[in-house]
Amino acid sequence: MGAVDTGTIDIYEPDRYLDGPPHEVFEHLRRTEPVYWQDMPDGTGYWAVLKHADVVHVAREPNVFSASEGGVVLEDLDPERLAMMRNMLLAMDPPRHVAYRRPLADSFKARVIGGLEARIRMMCREIMERVGEHDDVEFVHDICGSLPSQVIGELMGLPREDWSRIHRWAERNTSGQDPDLARHDPEHDDGDPSVNMALYAIEFAAARRNEPPGEDLTSLILASEFDGAPMTDIDFGSFFVQLVTAGNDTTKTMLSAGLLALLEHPDQLAELRTDRSFVPGAVEEILRWANPLHYFRRTATAPTEIRGVRVAAGQKLAMVYTSANRDEDVFENPHRFDIHRDPNPHLSFGIAEHFCLGVHLARLEGRIFFEELLDTFATIELTGEPCRTRSNLNNALKALPVRLGR
Ligand code: HEM
Repeated sequence: MGAVDTGTIDIYEPDRYLDGPPHEVFEHLRRTEPVYWQDMPDGTGYWAVLKHADVVHVAREPNVFSASEGGVVLEDLDPERLAMMRNMLLAMDPPRHVAYRRPLADSFKARVIGGLEARIRMMCREIMERVGEHDDVEFVHDICGSLPSQVIGELMGLPREDWSRIHRWAERNTSGQDPDLARHDPEHDDGDPSVNMALYAIEFAAARRNEPPGEDLTSLILASEFDGAPMTDIDFGSFFVQLVTAGNDTTKTMLSAGLLALLEHPDQLAELRTDRSFVPGAVEEILRWANPLHYFRRTATAPTEIRGVRVAAGQKLAMVYTSANRDEDVFENPHRFDIHRDPNPHLSFGIAEHFCLGVHLARLEGRIFFEELLDTFATIELTGEPCRTRSNLNNALKALPVRLGR
């Protein structure tokens, strides 16, 4: 870790993340100013909460640190977008949050999600089958990209022919800070992707209400009560956008950044090849080491203090998972990638109230994907420079050129 020039610390600037997260800066700040005030270009600013224990504290006090007040990203949204976001579980506060989350919880339990194992394995195989004996691929899009939207399509019972459309909208829905990813593409650009996705889901819900219930999540949602009333088709639309958005880019990142971490640690990749029982531990370490999301935001609803630092009502905070996951008070040799790390209390899925609803699904996808990847390809080599997304929110790769050999 290099020296840090304290005069130029800016952990908001998305360019800062192009060569990887500024871990040396976070490490320095954890020691010197673990609750760090960061100005933003729009004239506002936020408290970056950098210690593991403090992130846990903020997450556990939803009444003081609201997800709903200003949403979960640092940029303040216009009233219309904020209202849309507040309809998502992610940006609800108690008691509404509990009322919305409870009916869904059973469907996301490990045992229920485990029932998808065979289908997810088939999807992985189909994706990998497209690769020849010795092919150069762009791993992020050619291999990782379509799995998460296919899995959500399966979970929700969407017709197969619609999966690629959902995938395209999901891809365009995130990473607005990266000029390449946000670029206007007249051939595929059919308007605001989240609006399109919501409209699609609204129509889908309306059609499904006229059919006998099936075994999927859509049937369960349409038959459930949320806060004392069934979901309207419009609520369903927002919820659908949230599921696809929450589960798509994050999972894709876990898979692609996971492969890169393993290629950078060939001894551990070799160990995984000889003993697949290490895969679940490797997935956890990938999640800690290359956490797909850098942070989520909260807004203080009342004056409070964190580690002796006064936080005023209305101020924004970022729970910086990227820093918390390398907190030396919690993790031994935090900058070391170690698939045998145990315990591994990383915060990549958040914690408390809003703990990721899709956690079991994400872990299952991670495990099956790496099992299938190692079973299918005897050799995996990097053939060019990995390219990272310009974002202070998504800790993602946008290109990972590799050669896969059977
Ligand atoms: C590696 C993959 C994933 C990561 C790293 C991840 C990360 C997170 C994090 C950090 C939160 C907490 C938000 C907060 O505290 O404000 C969250 C919540 C959530 N995640 Fe995930 N997620 C992943 C995959 C998924 C998948 C596959 C799904 C569903 C298909 C999903 C659905 C959700 C939902 C619905 C919430 C909101 C829960 C609530 O507010 O009660 N996630 N996720």
